[in-house]
Amino acid sequence: MPQKRSTALHVVVTAGPTREYVDPVRYLSNVSSGKMGFEIAAEAARRGCEVTLVAGPVRLETPVGVERVDVESAREMLAAVRKAFRGADALVMAAAVADWRPARRLAGKWRKKDDGTDTAVLELVKNPDVLATVARNKGRRVVVAFALETGDGERRARRKMARKNADFVVLNDASALNAERSSVTILGRDGSRRALSRKPKREIAGALIALVAQRAQQAS
Ligand code: CTP
Repeated sequence: MPQKRSTALHVVVTAGPTREYVDPVRYLSNVSSGKMGFEIAAEAARRGCEVTLVAGPVRLETPVGVERVDVESAREMLAAVRKAFRGADALVMAAAVADWRPARRLAGKWRKKDDGTDTAVLELVKNPDVLATVARNKGRRVVVAFALETGDGERRARRKMARKNADFVVLNDASALNAERSSVTILGRDGSRRALSRKPKREIAGALIALVAQRAQQAS
């Protein structure tokens, strides 16, 4: 019997940091907790969306009704997002993807030398931009970027949104990292602006999913 195609909005959400290994026991990463992305995935599922959550290494439980794909590195995240986004209607890139990774992952432990040197150099190479890569050919699908800016971030965030071909950018400051509440401004490609000050992440997630659903409906 042919499978019935679901009419629910299919949303791909990314969350958490990525880990870029130096050797088998060391990596470069960041302090992202993944809370915002998990809240967005949970809220989307509560609102009846089909949700694929691509998660970096975090200590959080999978929200009810959400399909979770665990990844570690930026390149693994790119592969998982590419696959999930193929059949989806929207992508929310809440993950804090590491911009750089070590040029080489050593097979054995990186040992310090007993030759009196007190410095070491780690060569880094740029990671692929997950969002920009998949958004390039997004068609009518809705894409949301996150931007962490200090100072007058709105102009930079709008430029980032255009450069990465996103429909929305969620602008927040460093206080959002690892916190329960957050102050964000959701900027739309159409010039719209919605500021949410010191709100629980669940409330921010709700506002964002409502905007994404509305845009996806307009696009269909
Ligand atoms: N992003 C991504 N792949 C990367 C880097 C970032 O998909 N390799 C996504 C993030 O998930 C986020 C947005 O792009 O949605 C953030 O863009 P970025 O240019 O990294 O901005 P900031 O993190 O705000 O920092 P900066 O521009 O200062 O590097």
